[in-house]
Amino acid sequence: MEFKKIKIAVAGLGRIGKIHLDNLLQNDNVEVVAVSDPLEISRTKAMEKGIHITFVSYYEMLEATNIDAIVICSPTDTHADYVEYAAKKGLHIFCEKPLDLTLQRVKEVLHIVKMQDVKLMLGFNRRFDKEFKKVKELIQKNAIGDIHLVKTTSRDPGAPPIDYIKRSGGLFLDMAIHDFDMARFIVGSEVREVYATGAAMTNPEIGKVGDIDTAITILTFYNGVKAVIDNSREASYGYDQRLEVFGSKGMIQANNNFQDAHQLFDANGTHSSLPLHFFLERYEKAYKNEMLNFIECMASGMEMPVTGVDGLKSLQIGLAAKKSISEGRPVAIGEIDE
Ligand SMILES: NC(=O)c1ccc[n+]([C@@H]2O[C@H](COP(=O)([O-])OP(=O)(O)OC[C@H]3O[C@@H](n4cnc5c(N)ncnc54)[C@H](O)[C@@H]3O)[C@@H](O)[C@H]2O)c1
Repeated sequence: MEFKKIKIAVAGLGRIGKIHLDNLLQNDNVEVVAVSDPLEISRTKAMEKGIHITFVSYYEMLEATNIDAIVICSPTDTHADYVEYAAKKGLHIFCEKPLDLTLQRVKEVLHIVKMQDVKLMLGFNRRFDKEFKKVKELIQKNAIGDIHLVKTTSRDPGAPPIDYIKRSGGLFLDMAIHDFDMARFIVGSEVREVYATGAAMTNPEIGKVGDIDTAITILTFYNGVKAVIDNSREASYGYDQRLEVFGSKGMIQANNNFQDAHQLFDANGTHSSLPLHFFLERYEKAYKNEMLNFIECMASGMEMPVTGVDGLKSLQIGLAAKKSISEGRPVAIGEIDE
């Protein structure tokens, strides 16, 4: 398909911002006009990549440039204000998850996005991973009949810094939110009830800031399907990302991606490579596909594949999981819908 060049700016050039920026720079249909980041080193690195217009302030960037769209990769507590400002300027928006940590603010922002008639895509990158896409395709082809159970395992190789944890919303709103979105994507129904249990098991500092690093969440969907989500911030063997769907006619598993596919057999056992280390490696291609989808949808006018409503629904599940832990009981989604 022929695209007109889309002018884009990027806000926030940390772990994920750098990936999105690099993918945008590789796209012939895009011109990256400017970037913003309060950190000088981030701006300098962007200049080395050929972007000569850089800003400390996001708002100054949006005032001073002529762009079609914004890609927001700044810390979570900036997202809602940045999306609102961009929407009011008529820009299409890609925003990293989560949109905000409160339902009320997310609803306000989604209303503004709707009123301004701009497109908003949320960064649930796992939907663009080829393993998980294959699972979805097989389900759509009725390969395993009716779905009864979904299991996701999502364990990080190590926790982020405590300062990041404090601003992020914690394990459920920062990390497990990807699993909540994946479960909704796979099941194709909405969650009715959430039961979660968890603890800070790897690092007491995480507990001291009111968060956990280990959790099990059970979701019950309106169509009766159950999902079990297992999360840890610290897996000694790397990034553990698996999905299993069990249905009336069979089961589908999507397993980890490894550094290579060799297996060594010796007198001590069978040995193989570790899983790809973390999200940047495991989801490298998914991030490319995700950004490609954003650009294609802007160019074609099609609906974004992941919407603000997907962000809202996953946030609801995360908030219900937090309430479930603090009250030690299953929580109906309706209870937390402010
Ligand atoms: N979808 C994913 O796979 C994924 C992965 C990681 C992070 N994230 C999300 O992306 C966001 C950023 O996470 P990260 O891990 O890249 O964080 P990070 O701390 O590595 O990077 C954040 C960057 O934003 C910059 N920044 C700080 N304040 C800013 C502001 N007011 N305006 C613009 N830039 C600002 C920082 O200087 C830094 O360069 C978070 O919301 C996180 O939830 C998503």
